[in-house]
Amino acid sequence: MSLLTVRDPLPVQIETILPQPRAAVLAMPAYHPPLAGRDALRLDFNENTFSPSPTVLEKLHTITPAALTTYPERGPVEVIVARHHGLEADQVILTNGVDEAIHLICVAFLDASDEALIFTPGFFMYDVSIEMMAPGGLRKVQANSTLAFDLPRFLAAITPRTKLIIVASPNNPTGATVPRADLLAIAAAAPHSVVMVDEAYFHFHGETVLPDAGHVPNLIVTRTFSKAYGLANLRVGMIAGPSRLIGFLRKVSSPYNVNGIALAVLPNALADQQYLAWYVDEVRVGRQRIMAGLDALGVPYFPSEANFVLMNIGPLHQELVAAMRRRGVLLRDRSTDPECDGFVRMTVGVAEQVTQGLAALAESLGEIGWTHG
Ligand SMILES: Cc1ncc(COP(=O)(O)O)c(C=O)c1O
Repeated sequence: MSLLTVRDPLPVQIETILPQPRAAVLAMPAYHPPLAGRDALRLDFNENTFSPSPTVLEKLHTITPAALTTYPERGPVEVIVARHHGLEADQVILTNGVDEAIHLICVAFLDASDEALIFTPGFFMYDVSIEMMAPGGLRKVQANSTLAFDLPRFLAAITPRTKLIIVASPNNPTGATVPRADLLAIAAAAPHSVVMVDEAYFHFHGETVLPDAGHVPNLIVTRTFSKAYGLANLRVGMIAGPSRLIGFLRKVSSPYNVNGIALAVLPNALADQQYLAWYVDEVRVGRQRIMAGLDALGVPYFPSEANFVLMNIGPLHQELVAAMRRRGVLLRDRSTDPECDGFVRMTVGVAEQVTQGLAALAESLGEIGWTHG
């Protein structure tokens, strides 16, 4: 008897005896960010567009065969990361990027009957991890008409079943921020919920609730090393919070979740604050230039505190992204996000990349015949 070969659609009777995923997996949409063909100016994914610190590059050359063959040890680097942020080692856990942080938080805290509250438009990986653990329990609070965070609407959406609340500040894709006082008000209003503040873009803004995360009993903060620090490909992020909550997260995490190369270079990345400050400054100046450039071109946009700007192109959004790609510049079309029809996001890079991006934008808008309104 020959084994089944699974190429063509299977007859229904065979499909029913094959393993099925959980209903929540069947129901969820697949997330396929456009990662192919990115050998161009990457103004599409909000990564650092230049380089990590030179000391990180030097450290990479010292990785030995013994280091590669050994399982990674996260603990000692957690001590360094905690100390750098003014926290105790048991208040920090390193993760495989913030993507894994979101996943661990959902695995540790969400039961199937729980609700989780997020703000929309927002980062799609929240939806994925929440839907996996609490199918049907995802509650979204819409932004107001300016895409800004709406605190009264958000507070009104908290119920006794709300177990997890996620707020990004600055938010992706809008670049809008939520004041510290509002975040603390949310944590106080929902003592039965874990309140996760996603500070992936913190460095480009500056305001933080990280010092609060050690002592507000239900507040945790996530930070990534993918953005300002330029380590997106090494996949490393952190969760900071009260040791009680961090202890639960440690229980559900693999001890080897962060690879040894990331662990080896992270202390170097943290130590070189001068480089970080330089990169952040490039972005802050570049962001002002992009917003001024959009003003000059008459393109509406949302004032941003992150390393990207969301612009409202309208019906020609796809044509613009294609015209930019022909000029070697990648942008991200966010039109499928709720309330974002016609919106395109542009990452802010270093000075010459901003110059190239703005020049390509002016040419592309002309080419596609874009006019304001
Ligand atoms: C708001 C937000 N949080 C988290 C992440 C994920 O970061 P990481 O690369 O650490 O997984 C992103 C990435 O784009 C993001 O925009």
